[in-house]
Amino acid sequence: MKHIAIFASGSGSNARKIIEHFQDSTTGRVALVVSNKKDAGVLDIAAAHQIPTFLISRADFYDSKEILKILDEYRIDLIVLAGFLWLVPGYLIQAFPKKIVNIHPALLPLFGGKGMYGGHVHAAVKAAGAKESGITIHFANEHYDAGDIIFQTTCTLEEDDTPDIIARKVLALEHEHYPKVIEKMLMRVYKG
Ligand code: GRF
Repeated sequence: MKHIAIFASGSGSNARKIIEHFQDSTTGRVALVVSNKKDAGVLDIAAAHQIPTFLISRADFYDSKEILKILDEYRIDLIVLAGFLWLVPGYLIQAFPKKIVNIHPALLPLFGGKGMYGGHVHAAVKAAGAKESGITIHFANEHYDAGDIIFQTTCTLEEDDTPDIIARKVLALEHEHYPKVIEKMLMRVYKG
């Protein structure tokens, strides 16, 4: 049984789907939720599922490397970023080679990079007049949204789709696919 740590800064709707998916899995389970925001919805979701949480400070993430001890304590095999807004530092990438995965709410390399998160992404997709959007699941590296791509899928956009409608279409794809892709990663379908 592999151990997953979810890192999230926000409401945690993806985290919820992943936690629920792995409740019935023999491949892995969510063993830890890490957040950098004390009022993040994801912490309540974790608590409701009796999953331990760790609130991380910037100093512990970037300077003391405290997170390495915590990940070791919970015997974490895979780190899943689900709306985690801090750039992952090099020492952590090196400690978990090809074992840190991120999801981006657009078709990378389009609409990615620093500042491209949340509503900014969907506003940019709308402004570009894109006919489709989608999701990208990729390995994390030391740059925003730049690691090797593992999985992409698309949704069709209508001309009058607002950024909110685009966001809803994309989030539905995330919820459908992220847990399954993570499970395949644990089964070493994606070797990276
Ligand atoms: C998702 O759209 C994901 O692509 C991005 O952050 C958002 C997180 O949403 N990286 P939620 O907190 O899982 O609802």
